[in-house]
Amino acid sequence: MTKARLGVLAACLATTAIVLTLGWAWHTSRMPATYAVTDMGRPDYGGGPRDAGHHGSSAGHAGTSPGRSEVVSVRDLVEARSTPADVTVDLVAAKQRFRLASGRTVDGYTLNGSSPGPLIEARQGDLVEVRVRNESVPDGITLHWHGVDVPNAEDGVAGVTQDAVGEGEEHTYRFVADDAGTYWYHSHQVSHRQVVRGLFGALVVHPTRHSLGEGDVLAVTHQYGGVRTLNGREGDVPVVAPPGRRVRVRVVNTDNAAVHVWSGGDFRVLAVDGTEVTGPTPVQQRYLTLAAGGRADLEVRVPRDGSAARVQVERSTALLVGPRGSSAAPAPRPPGELDLLGYGSRGDLGFDPARADRRFDYRIGRRPGFVAGRPGVWWSINGRLWPDVPMYVVEKGDVVVMRIENGSGEAHPMHLHGHHAVVLSRNGVAASGAPWWVDSLHVRNGETFEVALVADNPGVWMDHCHNLQHARDGLVAHLMYAGVSTPYRVGGEARNEPE
Ligand code: C2O
Ligand code: CU
Repeated sequence: MTKARLGVLAACLATTAIVLTLGWAWHTSRMPATYAVTDMGRPDYGGGPRDAGHHGSSAGHAGTSPGRSEVVSVRDLVEARSTPADVTVDLVAAKQRFRLASGRTVDGYTLNGSSPGPLIEARQGDLVEVRVRNESVPDGITLHWHGVDVPNAEDGVAGVTQDAVGEGEEHTYRFVADDAGTYWYHSHQVSHRQVVRGLFGALVVHPTRHSLGEGDVLAVTHQYGGVRTLNGREGDVPVVAPPGRRVRVRVVNTDNAAVHVWSGGDFRVLAVDGTEVTGPTPVQQRYLTLAAGGRADLEVRVPRDGSAARVQVERSTALLVGPRGSSAAPAPRPPGELDLLGYGSRGDLGFDPARADRRFDYRIGRRPGFVAGRPGVWWSINGRLWPDVPMYVVEKGDVVVMRIENGSGEAHPMHLHGHHAVVLSRNGVAASGAPWWVDSLHVRNGETFEVALVADNPGVWMDHCHNLQHARDGLVAHLMYAGVSTPYRVGGEARNEPE
């Protein structure tokens, strides 16, 4: 054989090898039509034991922690109380053309005819019961209680904790609102379409019998078709409050991207992701970055000169809190950012993260390959593409430390269901302010966070990016308690499609 022929042969062999490798990658990335998320990925025990039961029935959790051989179904992880509900809400979901409070018409989804859906208010400790009927959403719906650590069966993830609620069907959620704070709810079926187009609402849990009013207002931000709104309105949105009044403004970011929030004057950050900040000090000339899915309660004071306090959400929308007819000077975004890593005064975490039972890595990257048979450049977790991603396995009672590292080239708002985690450090710098508890954490490119949590809520929990398009493109993993199984399947007859 001549040298030239040898060269051609080598090239042919190389090409065949590449084609076979690609073919294999494509083949293995294709998903069966129906599958259990608990069968996906690779179990990661975080250096802890592989069997359930190492905490035994200690710590007073007897009867709720699965033993070594018992298996608990997600279906049975419900609210224990059989007492009547304190708050009952009936919701009807529809796919329709509807009018926002701003007057603009949108093609999307509503709850009780509007988007945002009705505000749900409860008092801390209330049993909340929400019955939702799907009137006309062809893909089916669910409701997820974003930031509320509900029992797993109430978490509203299609194909993981329930089946999607089909057209003409209904579903009832029951949970105790144990923690006061600002939360929201949204569909977790085909969420990258349904949430973006309106299937969500706010949930506020008050510490006492109380409802929103002059001293306590809501600011739900959402972009409908690229137009930013606050509570469905555009531009400057007036809210009536008397001069001198301190007002808690509950900002909820329902978008896929972070928003910047600031005030014309001073403000304090009273709460982040539903948890009160200890020792919040006045913030001057700084803006706050609110992760997608995140919430922050800001306190502003209505000026005494008859003007309004301005709470600006991005450049295009603001709440003007003041006497009827009042106005406020425009407020450009301040140059500096408020860093929550050192904001407020230190407080007790209630557990010791130094004594972690398990340590996990959640390394977000990006690389070429196939996700669900589609070629592209995809988000990776620990170097691998969905569904070949880690299944973080814990046991009830574990103290868990997770390192979230983002080298993917873009920011990701990371959201863990069913738990709150506390930030220990960012890029190696230890947190020095109030305990920074999050359920939605904005992780910028190049950043590494260490967060810690106590695994105290058995189930199978999503841990995903809340840029819902990113989730749809595979930035999804799960935290699973050993000994918990789910009877629900992604795909299947209910056509469950959580992302
Ligand atoms: Cu706000 Cu997995 O969701
Ligand atoms: Cu993302």
